[in-house]
Amino acid sequence: MAFPKGFFIGAATAAHQVEGNNIHSDYWRQELLPHSSFTEPSGAACDHYNRYAEDIRLLTEAGLNAYRFSVEWARIEPEEGRFDEKEIEHYRNVIRCCRDSGVEPIVTLHHFTSPAWLIRKGGWEAESTVEYFRRYASYVTEQLGAELSYICTINEANMGLQLAAISKRYMLMAEQAQKAAASGAKQAEGKVQVGMNFEKMMENMKFAAMENAQAFGTPQPQVFVSARTPEGDMLVMRAHREAKAAIKAIRPEIRVGLTLSLHDLQALPGGEPFAEAAWDEEFRHYLPYIADDDFLGVQNYTRTQYGPQGQLPCPEGAELAQMDYEIYPEALEHVIRRVREEFSGDLIVTENGLATADDSRRVAFLRTALAGVERCLADGIPVRGYCYWSLLDNFEWQKGFSMTFGLIAVDRATQKRMPKPSLAFLGGFAE
Ligand code: BGC
Repeated sequence: MAFPKGFFIGAATAAHQVEGNNIHSDYWRQELLPHSSFTEPSGAACDHYNRYAEDIRLLTEAGLNAYRFSVEWARIEPEEGRFDEKEIEHYRNVIRCCRDSGVEPIVTLHHFTSPAWLIRKGGWEAESTVEYFRRYASYVTEQLGAELSYICTINEANMGLQLAAISKRYMLMAEQAQKAAASGAKQAEGKVQVGMNFEKMMENMKFAAMENAQAFGTPQPQVFVSARTPEGDMLVMRAHREAKAAIKAIRPEIRVGLTLSLHDLQALPGGEPFAEAAWDEEFRHYLPYIADDDFLGVQNYTRTQYGPQGQLPCPEGAELAQMDYEIYPEALEHVIRRVREEFSGDLIVTENGLATADDSRRVAFLRTALAGVERCLADGIPVRGYCYWSLLDNFEWQKGFSMTFGLIAVDRATQKRMPKPSLAFLGGFAE
């Protein structure tokens, strides 16, 4: 089964998760706090900063034709208003490397990490961030825009509200568990599609507040991946729109969109109102701000089911990913179809993947997920590409390096790359 000519078959990464030594970023600081919620610091990560050419070569040789990666704001603007030409040159080289290999570079401007200085200025709840982000987007477009056809402004723009909801639920469960002197708290962890250590975060809260105050001037730094207020949620939308306008003013031909983390929300009888409310929060209320975008980046990993009392645990006997949520590759097709009912622009699957130690499981996951995408295309849904998460086994945020999502394994002692069979399997779908 091959997709039509021009359909992107790619893999995705994010700067902080693979490059290494992202020392001016907020995450770098948070990872090194004495009471950090991170299992381990990102350190040299996969040294992709120095080894990108080898990684893009492996991707190309396996037949893939697109590479989604992010440029790191904290490298490009390490201090407020100081833009580093050397770092822009680095990303120019990465883009050239893609182009020389016939690989489409799909660039994300913001993938969770921000410069530490931005967080000291109030981060993702501060009005000034909208203008800072616009200025950064404009600089990147001036410098790199000539080589780009696709830009994702903000990765998983809806992550903050998901975290707000899950933190609230987690607190409630932890309280109940404490009262009942039983632990039911761990259950809540797996429901967000990103590596977070909620238990550790709660335990560390008291100390972390003090340490954060020292590092960022506030006990509760508003990094991107933290619980957002409704006002902060709208601020993210304004940042997206301003950045998009800035990109279009310089290069109207670049196709611009953002990406959203979308679960396949399924209602069992009686669960409909819960599933609807979750879809409103996760997707529908963003529509006014993205309806005229050139594309939407769809990011899906699993499903969530609702019954008459609300969210249900994973079905009995379900196989779980390393991330502790259900392995359910059918979710992608369901989400694409659901999004299509309300969003008429192009869709790009900017992330979909599985953390597993068993690569044959990943191959099976890809087979099912891509068959779903193919059915969507056959029905005329404008899906333009599929990027698997992730090209490399990498730094899964608070969960560290233990989650293996990659098509390529990385020996962290030697940084040696070891392509898994799933890499060539995915490449086989490209025209
Ligand atoms: C994020 C990635 C992350 C992946 C797997 C997505 O939420 O964009 O950065 O590694 O999920 O958890």
